[in-house]
Amino acid sequence: MINQIVTKIAKRQFARALKFEEGIEPELPSCADEKPRLLYIHIPFCEELCAYCSFHRVRFEEELTRKYFGALRREITLYRDRGYKFGGIYVGGGTPTVLVEELAEVLALARKSFAIKEISVETNPNHLTGRNMEILRQSGVNRLSVGVQTFNDDLLKKIGRYEKYGAGDDVAQKLKQIMGLFDTVNADMIFNFPGQTQQMLGDDLAVLLKLRMEQITFYPLMTSTITQRLMEDTVGKVNFNREHKLFKLIVRKLESDYESSSAWCFSRKNGRQTLIDEYVVDYDEYAGLGSGAIGYLAGVCLANTFDINEYIARLEQGRLPLTASRKFNLRDQMSYDFMMKLFATKMDVASLEQKYGGKFLKSLWKEMIAFILAGSFRYFPPDLYLTPRGRYFWVIMMREFFIAVNNFRDYCRGVLPKGAVGSFPIEDIPRIKERI
Ligand SMILES: C[S@@+](CC[C@H](N)C(=O)[O-])C[C@H]1O[C@@H](n2cnc3c(N)ncnc32)[C@H](O)[C@@H]1O
Ligand code: SF4
Repeated sequence: MINQIVTKIAKRQFARALKFEEGIEPELPSCADEKPRLLYIHIPFCEELCAYCSFHRVRFEEELTRKYFGALRREITLYRDRGYKFGGIYVGGGTPTVLVEELAEVLALARKSFAIKEISVETNPNHLTGRNMEILRQSGVNRLSVGVQTFNDDLLKKIGRYEKYGAGDDVAQKLKQIMGLFDTVNADMIFNFPGQTQQMLGDDLAVLLKLRMEQITFYPLMTSTITQRLMEDTVGKVNFNREHKLFKLIVRKLESDYESSSAWCFSRKNGRQTLIDEYVVDYDEYAGLGSGAIGYLAGVCLANTFDINEYIARLEQGRLPLTASRKFNLRDQMSYDFMMKLFATKMDVASLEQKYGGKFLKSLWKEMIAFILAGSFRYFPPDLYLTPRGRYFWVIMMREFFIAVNNFRDYCRGVLPKGAVGSFPIEDIPRIKERI
């Protein structure tokens, strides 16, 4: 019951917070100070489009992809020329390694332009070749995140990954071979797929424990409204009521060997080096580069155009490809910090009070009391920690946050009709399917 209430409130809040202003070309805020920011780079190309995925991704075409990488390098120089400084890079997708030499050139330019200390790159199992690993190592990549989702072959077939990315055993073998090549090798997993039983999830956990993975991110299945409808024909109907039970199984199996880096990210205890977690956790602010990338800078949420040809054309004209923005008021900024800090499972209340000139607790006291009454926090000064119950509430909230972002993506890609972020008439589905 309480899980459903949290879901409902989060859904409403995020749908409101993500109403972007359109029609006016957004301006890039001035950020010439020394605050550490992250450079998020989006590569939207994939060799195979997975049925459950609501990220901004399109089918890989070599010529277009090469032009895209050229545009990306232009975008980096525009940020550099405006005085931006970045301390870390996160390259996400799509599949960032579709043309690994092009990616290496992008990383070389970024390292030349900024004092980069850490680089995280996402990839797929079919790209874990010796040559690719060497290029990524030479490019300064510290963390490699591999999309696994599950080791169960039937499920891999159902979600459309078996043919292209390989059988579960092969993926496990490839992970074993690359262990130790980077400071952190992370496996991206998904739980709560339709038809995924406790037994199947338990088997996935056993493989991960046997591999002694350095880091495991266990995302709850989170699809946009449209992807949920489309999945019903292929993978099956999504049931959020099973999620809590499955999450408890994951925590129970991993808690003795792993510590929490975020509500759903587990890092091996006594790892060789401090591991790099998801970027929204480590950095307060980030710039989003690449088509469809979303950034958060100086209290403004910004999105780049989702149209890849327009993205390239705008950069060829020397213009930034920003398309939509939303300025968060002070309260929205505090709520955003509250959610992201606690997603990292602890929050330093005093430093947030200082950041917001003593207004943080006064503004968010209702939320704090509600979560305290629901048994979400434990206070060990100076930090507030999530309890196991609180941790699951944060899984729900972040799931709803990403679903809202996914709905926004579908809207921007022109897949949803105007004015229908997240809701649309059922008769529209065949037409939407053609456009997706
Ligand atoms: C967006 S992909 C990009 C990297 C790479 N293409 C891959 O498949 O791993 C990064 C990760 O996001 C997660 N992901 C994608 N779609 C998801 C969804 N609908 N719900 C939860 N996690 C999802 C998967 O675990 C995936 O590995
Ligand atoms: S999960 Fe990864 S490979 Fe599959 S469509 Fe999404 S971004 Fe591409």
